[in-house]
Amino acid sequence: MRTTVLIVAAGSGSRLQAGVPKALVTLGDGNTMLEHCLDSVVAARDAGVVELNAIAVVVPGDPDAAASLEAVCRAFAARSAVPVQTVPGGAERADSVRAGLAAVRGLAGTAGGPFGRHALLVHDAARPFVPPAVFGAVVAALESGTVAVVPGVEVVDTIKSVARAGAEPGADDGAAPEEVTGTLQRTQLRAVQTPQGFDLTSLEAAHRRAEEDAGLTGGAAALTDDAMAMEAAGHRVGVVAGDPLGFKITTQLDLILANALLASTTLEHH
Ligand code: C5P
Repeated sequence: MRTTVLIVAAGSGSRLQAGVPKALVTLGDGNTMLEHCLDSVVAARDAGVVELNAIAVVVPGDPDAAASLEAVCRAFAARSAVPVQTVPGGAERADSVRAGLAAVRGLAGTAGGPFGRHALLVHDAARPFVPPAVFGAVVAALESGTVAVVPGVEVVDTIKSVARAGAEPGADDGAAPEEVTGTLQRTQLRAVQTPQGFDLTSLEAAHRRAEEDAGLTGGAAALTDDAMAMEAAGHRVGVVAGDPLGFKITTQLDLILANALLASTTLEHH
């Protein structure tokens, strides 16, 4: 199934405090996070699990950051022979995905795959080490007719919902502790990663619907992944096995883990 990959790399990475957008942060081997992410897509193609059509990369609006990321994309396109298009992103991740979808439609063409379907994988640039098997599992689910599929891993912590005790609107309650309002059964929870796979036309429609009716999902900021837009549109979303190596680099601790992995032989076995 012809597949286009949409990589969102327009985040500021403020939680990483690196001073540059997250996708431009250089890991211990001298390569940026975006280069690792692009290479992982090509590794999946070379493993024969993704029939790669093209890649769209959503970059920050800031001209300097955009220019640096565009240079990374150009160099990657030259060495991999994969068509890569860049497009400026938006304030929230969902805005960036929506900006990217317009570019993807051009890259995917109108022919689509068999029966006019075209697979889209939406992927975070901040996940540099996703093994080919995860790409393969997502694509296989799409090929079997699923319109939305996410890779998920079991959750190790107990997850509780909370609220601030006695919070009054505008009250100075910063010191008040949060209070547990419920505990979700851990066995029923999955931490969901990317790449998330979709039938392209269905995801376009779901994002349009979510944008037109913010009440459906709580607005762009609340739409923390793309499967949420599909859920809100009433689609069933499949879950396949993710991988601990699909973790997202968000904090300094994640960066330390990423560099320790690069210095070890762990990644070679995937
Ligand atoms: O912020 P978060 O860690 O959820 O970001 C996940 C991915 O979404 C990152 O790869 C980041 O670059 C991207 N993103 C984006 N546009 C934004 C915010 C995040 O492309 N406005």
